[in-house]
Amino acid sequence: MATPESPFKPGILRGKVALVTGGGSGIGLEITRQLGLHGASVVISGRREQVLRDACAALGGEGVAAHYVQGDVRKFGDCERMAAAAVQRFGRLDVLVNCAAGNFLSPAEQLSSNGFRTVLEIDTLGTFHMCRAAFEHLKQAGSSGGALIINISMTLHYGATWWQAHASAAKAAVDSLTRSLGLEWGHYGIRTAGVAPGPIEGTAGMTKLAPGSDGEANMQKLMSAAIPLGHMGRPWDIAQTCVFLASPAAAFMTGHTLVVDGGEWMCKPALVPREVVTRVSRGVEAKSRAVGLAGGANGGGAGGGPRSKL
Ligand code: COA
Repeated sequence: MATPESPFKPGILRGKVALVTGGGSGIGLEITRQLGLHGASVVISGRREQVLRDACAALGGEGVAAHYVQGDVRKFGDCERMAAAAVQRFGRLDVLVNCAAGNFLSPAEQLSSNGFRTVLEIDTLGTFHMCRAAFEHLKQAGSSGGALIINISMTLHYGATWWQAHASAAKAAVDSLTRSLGLEWGHYGIRTAGVAPGPIEGTAGMTKLAPGSDGEANMQKLMSAAIPLGHMGRPWDIAQTCVFLASPAAAFMTGHTLVVDGGEWMCKPALVPREVVTRVSRGVEAKSRAVGLAGGANGGGAGGGPRSKL
């Protein structure tokens, strides 16, 4: 699907500085790109230096002022370094996007203690680390125009998701953190928000979490049956949501997680097909009323009797 033009003004985020963890690839890179194309100065972080360097070069080619810091969100010292680097390079920090995440499929009975801990450490602890390490900088921005934390989440834990006990627990905690910090830090002019993507095409998440398909086209077909809007999302969809959240249009929102999934999380198969409903529903209703009225006439029904006396 072709990427549409942004509906937002190009300079809507001018003067803002954003730090995106996991910003070197996938959804994080597109978030960085869109924040930058809308005027923000951007800093990306991640564990693989070459990936970060390549991403900055590509962003620079599109006119986006980008800087990178290598680091691991599991280490608090690295997070302090990342936040400080953004301020050192661009003078302030207004927007923190926690996009770094780790995941894999595993049946719970085969998941080791370390496997469970690793995902919680990257997703949950890493998110808290970054928020905490950036707090003083964000607080400063909060007192002069407003600051924002965006936590990239998931919808796995709204119900329950097969083979994802670790990531579901981790993202449930992230959503909780979005609310807690929204509550506690609004006072400092720091808003919080979550974005929960559904299946997004061309990402590591899709490659890892939906393996074994016969290629992208087949995956698109399988997915469209499970998504009310009929197709997978694009990194662009998530990135535009972040631009909206960072824009003045969302200035009164905090603590809330926006689901951007084409309706996937709430989708379940229809027990009765649409054609059958269309064909038989009125007949079934008429029959049920007829039974009710007959019962009422005999004095024993719940439907016809009492209604006729009113
Ligand atoms: N199934 C079961 N357990 C797995 C696993 C899998 N597919 N992949 C890793 N693990 C376990 C490891 O066995 C290890 O546990 P152990 O010590 O008991 O054996 C534990 O998880 C940590 O693995 P390790 O490879 O040492 O961690 P890492 O820090 O190098 O990598 C991951 C972390 C596993 C999350 C890795 O996939 C990663 O770095 N991901 C980042 C990118 C990503 O996942 N993006 C997708 C987002 S949806």
